[in-house]
Amino acid sequence: MKEKLQELYSRAITDIEQVNDFNSLQNVRNTYLSKKSELNGLMSKMRDLSPDERASFGQLINKIKSELTEKIENKRKEVEEKELQEKLMKEVIDFTEPNTTFKKGSKHPFNAVVDQVCEIFIGMGYNIAEGPEVELDHFNFELLNVPKDHPARDMQDTFFIDENHLMRSQTSPVQAHVMLSKNGEGPIKIISPGKVYRRDDDATHSHQFGQIEGLVIDKNVNMGNLLSTLELFARSMFGEKREVRMRSSYFPFTEPSVEADISCFECGGKGCSLCKGTGWIEILGAGMVHPHVLEMCGFDTKEYQGFAFGIGIERVGMLKYGIDDIRRFYTNDIRFNKQFDKE
Ligand code: PHE
Repeated sequence: MKEKLQELYSRAITDIEQVNDFNSLQNVRNTYLSKKSELNGLMSKMRDLSPDERASFGQLINKIKSELTEKIENKRKEVEEKELQEKLMKEVIDFTEPNTTFKKGSKHPFNAVVDQVCEIFIGMGYNIAEGPEVELDHFNFELLNVPKDHPARDMQDTFFIDENHLMRSQTSPVQAHVMLSKNGEGPIKIISPGKVYRRDDDATHSHQFGQIEGLVIDKNVNMGNLLSTLELFARSMFGEKREVRMRSSYFPFTEPSVEADISCFECGGKGCSLCKGTGWIEILGAGMVHPHVLEMCGFDTKEYQGFAFGIGIERVGMLKYGIDDIRRFYTNDIRFNKQFDKE
């Protein structure tokens, strides 16, 4: 009988070891520990043993019982832990999974223009430069050839904070910042997008709007370079067939100064309502950097020349997307913004 018990014990141990889930463990427990178990069957046979044998057999059977109970209990903990882990793994939340109920916003047309213009000029080897929006009079005007009391200040009346500080009326002061940072050593090839401020307010002018400044300083830079740069820009932005023409203009910090027009992309130059019958649309101001500005900003004019241009961000957006009122850029009407989903 002892052998039988021994055999039962090792069978039970193997079974317990092999069990991998809660239900099978429950079966093993029934097989070896329930009332109808073989172990209990053996116990009922104790009657047939001599009193001595009965005592030692009884002890052994109790030892086996408690050992098996303990082993099953340990196994239960193990299996439960394993099943919990498996459940947790299955329930893992994948944060990277796209949420189909999420409404994706779209790029604001203002930023769409900035991104496109920057991409075009970065493709031509330009770097992005930044400057402060609260600017010193010295940078916004004086270093750009507009001394105090110069009549050109009227064109760009803006918001003064105190006698020397103002909200910049143009991105051109970034030209002076970049030039001064170079200590007279070229080349420079930058564009600088940002906000500017003026005392303006109608359908095509806002007290706050965006400009993108461009500046190139190097040896042997000429108007031809400016024209071809603007042509490349106009064609990338408004289509391969665009022509650029320059009309002479005036800016205090460029000489000569021009205003650049592109052939109308609506009618191809024949004349329509968009170009007011002229076939041309004005898109930016530009010119060769004035020698006096170069000097004030530390460059030797015998060695270096440069050109600069200033593009109105909303103006480009209004033309490109057919937007009728500049104020639509700022009112945050979702119905307006949503129309630029493609960008
Ligand atoms: N800063 C000028 C303006 O705001 C535009 C400009 C920039 C003209 C660079 C020439 C060169 O009107």
